Amino acid sequence: MGPVGGLGLAVVAAAVAVGSCGRKEAPGGSSGVASSASAAASVSAAAPVAATAKRPPAPPGDAERGKKLAQEHECHRCHDGAGLTAAPREKHCFHCHQQIVTGEFPAPKHALAKWRPNVAPVQDVPTLEGAGRFDRSWLFAFLQEPHDLRPALAPTMPRLAIDAAEAADLTSWLTRDATSVEAVSLEGASLERGRELLEQRACGICHELGGAPLPQRPGFTGSETQRKAATLAPDLRLTRERWEAAPLVAWIQDPKRLKPDTLMPSMGLKRDEARDVAAYLLRAPLAPAAPRPVPPRLPLLERRVTFAEVDTAVFTKICRHCHGNEDAELGDGGPGNTGGFGFSPRKLDLASYAGIAAGLLDTKGERASVFAKLDDGTPRLVAVLLARQKEEAGRPDPRARGMPLGLPSLTPEQIQLVETWVSQGRPR
Ligand code: HEC
Ligand code: HEC
Ligand code: HEC
Ligand code: HEC
Repeated sequence: MGPVGGLGLAVVAAAVAVGSCGRKEAPGGSSGVASSASAAASVSAAAPVAATAKRPPAPPGDAERGKKLAQEHECHRCHDGAGLTAAPREKHCFHCHQQIVTGEFPAPKHALAKWRPNVAPVQDVPTLEGAGRFDRSWLFAFLQEPHDLRPALAPTMPRLAIDAAEAADLTSWLTRDATSVEAVSLEGASLERGRELLEQRACGICHELGGAPLPQRPGFTGSETQRKAATLAPDLRLTRERWEAAPLVAWIQDPKRLKPDTLMPSMGLKRDEARDVAAYLLRAPLAPAAPRPVPPRLPLLERRVTFAEVDTAVFTKICRHCHGNEDAELGDGGPGNTGGFGFSPRKLDLASYAGIAAGLLDTKGERASVFAKLDDGTPRLVAVLLARQKEEAGRPDPRARGMPLGLPSLTPEQIQLVETWVSQGRPR
């Protein structure tokens, strides 16, 4: 048994548990698709290879340059693994939160108790160990245009400033010591048997499968390790985008062989069973992903909105974590102020009224207002919030990087508050 203790028990629990576990809607959302029974029935061994268009292969890159780029873009402020030395705690976007949750962080008990529920959704992130298991062309595309992979994980990989040449170098670095695996042929594999195994082995305890939902969505019962594993389990709909057949069969048989620190336990499948499951994941017809709608933009509020209200609901709550004041607080002001994740300093301090009024550095390094209107009349401050909603819907806005960077978009009501405040002339 892997690190997920008591999985057997949990499987039994899962079989009787019903209800959702507050998972966010995945972009390839599994709403309104065929029931699992009909999904299984519609699959036959003769099913054609998936219609997913093949991406162009990743151009060759330079792993040494890739390593340097990883340092410049500070992948180690979020990810462990891949030979990176973790950033110190005061720079790390997940370690500090993890320590608050476990109580290791040096702070009074009452402070930890107050913070804990707020940091809980920002404590998990995949490591970059064993990234050579992924299809290179997928990695190359993902680094330039990331998308959501894990339905239960709130943060996403941020859109960093990575161009094609840099993505090729990073891909070479990430895949430099891929585990070699036996060649495999999926000829004659049974998709039906693959589907049966997915259901029997309760893969749905941790995974969603958008487009052919797995029966069990147990919620986060079980141990802390199991909660973490379920949070970090990708939507299996994406397997065909991310994997070639040979590493996939090896993974399904023994995940630790390809990624020693993975939280996916070995599920005890024999090689021919792993082959059937792999064939199903790579080839079964899936219902098309329901397009994720961009939430409605609410009309301006009639009532007066003060800075104090927007500050509590938005700036202090969320933006300050990356746009702090470098003098008033411990730390460096954050990546949105003094630079980080490969971005140059934009000097945007959202921790006070004066800071916001002082604006930011534009791409030419000149001071500019954060309220300046884009060509469609939307103030920049509002445009970045709307851009994040569009990124989540899979339609990044070329004019603006979505904010908060790599974190869930604000609610329509929070955006309405910011927009109303700006339109009223930013009263104090
Ligand atoms: C601000 C935090 C942050 C930074 C900085 C960051 N990432 Fe990520 N990355 C994430 C998160 C969160 C995910 C998980 C996304 C998901 O599951 O949807 C992720 C996912 C990934 C994945 C997919 C891994 C998997 O197992 O699915 C790769 C590869 C990756 N990042 C590479 C990088 C590289 C290379 C860098 C530096 C150039 C980097 N990331 C910088 C937060 C970050
Ligand atoms: C030194 C420790 C520390 C570091 C480093 C840190 N945080 Fe936090 N973070 C906190 C604390 C404490 C809270 C809870 C604040 C509260 O409840 O008032 C928090 C809360 C959050 C929240 C939750 C906000 C909400 O919705 O209530 C987000 C998002 C966040 N941090 C993002 C980040 C990002 C992004 C980074 C990396 C740039 C980061 N944090 C680095 C300590 C830290
Ligand atoms: C206890 C939770 C858990 C269970 C049960 C589980 N998995 Fe996983 N699985 C994970 C996690 C976590 C990952 C992500 C691996 C990582 O990043 O370390 C994963 C990754 C995968 C991947 C790669 C997906 C990708 O896009 O990278 C496949 C395929 C997969 N699992 C198949 C299965 C199958 C088939 C079963 C049932 C036989 C199963 N899993 C059961 C937790 C689980
Ligand atoms: C995880 C860190 C992070 C969080 C959280 C975050 N930002 Fe940012 N922000 C950045 C970084 C990094 C940049 C610089 C990006 C660039 O130069 O393209 C930036 C840039 C900006 C810009 C300038 C964008 C442009 O194109 O000129 C605005 C405006 C902005 N952020 C607003 C916000 C607001 C409002 C929030 C809270 C809702 C927020 N940010 C939360 C990291 C963050």
